[in-house]
Amino acid sequence: MIAPDTIQQILSVARIEEVVGDFISLKKRGVNYIGNCPFHEEKTPSFTVSAAKGIYKCFGCGKAGNVTKFVMEHEHLTYPESLEWLAKKYNIAIANVQLSPKQIEEQKSKEQLLSLNQLAKEYFVEQLWNTDEGKSIGMSYFKERQLSEAVMKKFELGYNPDAEQAFTNYAQQKGFTLELLKSSGLTTQQRNADFFRARVIFPIHNVSGRVVAFGARTLRKDKTVAKYFNSPETEVYHKSKILYGLYQARNTILKNDFCYLVEGYMDVISLHQGGVENVAASSGTALTIDQIRLIKRYTQNIVLLYDGDAAGIKAALRGLELIIEEGLNLKIVLLPDGEDPDSYMHKHGAQGFNEFVLNNAKDFIRFKIQFSMEETKADPHRKAAVTKDLITMFGKIPDGFIRGEYIKEFCSLMQISEEMVIREVNNLMRTALKKNAAIPSEDASLLQQQSVGNFEEISQPNFFQNPDEEQEKNIIRILLEWGSKTLSNNKTVAEYLFDEVEISLIDNVVCAKIFNQFLQEFEQTKLFDSSSFINSPDEEISAFVAELLKDQYLLSPNWESKHQIFIKDREMNFEEDVNSSVHHFKLKKLLKLINQNLQKIKTEKNLEEEIQLQYIHLQLSVMKADLAKASGTVIRK
Ligand code: GTP
Ligand code: MN
Repeated sequence: MIAPDTIQQILSVARIEEVVGDFISLKKRGVNYIGNCPFHEEKTPSFTVSAAKGIYKCFGCGKAGNVTKFVMEHEHLTYPESLEWLAKKYNIAIANVQLSPKQIEEQKSKEQLLSLNQLAKEYFVEQLWNTDEGKSIGMSYFKERQLSEAVMKKFELGYNPDAEQAFTNYAQQKGFTLELLKSSGLTTQQRNADFFRARVIFPIHNVSGRVVAFGARTLRKDKTVAKYFNSPETEVYHKSKILYGLYQARNTILKNDFCYLVEGYMDVISLHQGGVENVAASSGTALTIDQIRLIKRYTQNIVLLYDGDAAGIKAALRGLELIIEEGLNLKIVLLPDGEDPDSYMHKHGAQGFNEFVLNNAKDFIRFKIQFSMEETKADPHRKAAVTKDLITMFGKIPDGFIRGEYIKEFCSLMQISEEMVIREVNNLMRTALKKNAAIPSEDASLLQQQSVGNFEEISQPNFFQNPDEEQEKNIIRILLEWGSKTLSNNKTVAEYLFDEVEISLIDNVVCAKIFNQFLQEFEQTKLFDSSSFINSPDEEISAFVAELLKDQYLLSPNWESKHQIFIKDREMNFEEDVNSSVHHFKLKKLLKLINQNLQKIKTEKNLEEEIQLQYIHLQLSVMKADLAKASGTVIRK
């Protein structure tokens, strides 16, 4: 772990315009810099950088953030990796946090496992290429499957001979303990024998190219032995977080902006041999959310290649909603019955493969709709079940527009009422929303009737947000933007907010964190410094603040000439901005409290308690009326 001091140092030295300037040419325009966006193709520049605020935003594709976010997105790195990248650029030595003895132990055993796997891989490769048994058995198997030597080398394929303990002995001679060998899965628990005897070996790499596990295929036709053996889960191998072939595929996935997903080791390898290099495999198991997020680091687009038999289709229909939920685009290609990508590539060659895929790729959701339709035929019972199933899927599509299009298509095919389906989908999503926000059942509808703030937007894409989030964010925004300005009552905006906003009412965790941190700093120093939040070492805070402030500080280049006027206008009217933000925050929270209280009244059986609650209701109602009077807003009943 990088020490917080080092993070602070990196972030204070790194200049966003310099870092971005390493990749695109920036021109000064007004207070900002602009250039051609590195994240999408464009001819007129719409990528804007505010050096003063340390943030960027593209008005073409919408990407925005601070300096670490830029490095993460541009170089496809994780947060710590992006800090290392910046440290290197600015010649800052990375100090790591002192690790506890337990952490040092864990680090050591991970390193040991990785170096044992490295040794094993080299051993298996050596056996395949340079021993009689390897050549006559392993190599002839791969040749029979028409693999080229180049692709065998690329995937570091190997062979483990049919000898009881050859590898185990070899590894022990090299200084690895039997205990480590067993925990890696390379040696069996009971007999201390080699686990992958007489099998061809497929090393499994993580995205940095280290071997974390192995798959091993038997060469026997006999159906009583498992076709593939795999390494067990270890400290360096979590099945659900690895995709086979992603390491070899990642650059091509980036270049082509999509990724084929297949089932098996041989599918990945044969596609590479045919020149299709953007492919990864889930290795026979159902996809997991972590695997999908791995792909999402490189592309939003997935093309599934599955066997066209019934089992293949069923497998395809299961579990893939995860991909939809992550907002990725999914297409599916069903291969002719009995073929897998490996056999198809060998039979028809790269050109035949590409043609087939092009002609047969179907949008996944549309495929599911059509497939379900065919299955139901004229049976009304099945029709009801299928409709329910599909409604669940529609409810998971994050984009409102896309969701609507699919619903329209489904209803016209099914000849059912679109209104009914939309209502059902909305109900479902509302339930999910309530679960997320943990608010009492009629709260949402009551607030909706009151129609204040942004609540009308309930069916918009940010449906799953906490419904008070906009108001909470607004409070944080005015705190960061105007905190040190003085209001006409002679208080600073920050002081005013600390008086007026009850922190326990802020539900959004990041908002609460920022508010709290600000409050603490203010109590100690009586100073307000919002800039430290954009470059906070807490990634959650820095990302949140960059997103929150981007629209205030970065104007579209087309608007640049009006920028100065815009800033002046905003500054002149900051007091109005503060008042209206505080007002809406209070109103929203008050309505929520009133509704929660009403719920309690409804269910309260004890008369005394009920009277007490009625009294609270009265007080809250008075507060609501006062609030309305103070701002001159008329609140509808
Ligand atoms: P070939 O028969 O060599 O072409 O392999 P394949 O990749 O076509 O295998 P198949 O379609 O039967 O299975 C797809 C994937 O499921 C394989 O690549 C393995 O990752 C996994 N798999 C298949 N059989 C087994 C097994 O017996 N045990 C385990 N653990 N995984 C298996
Ligand atoms: Mn196969």
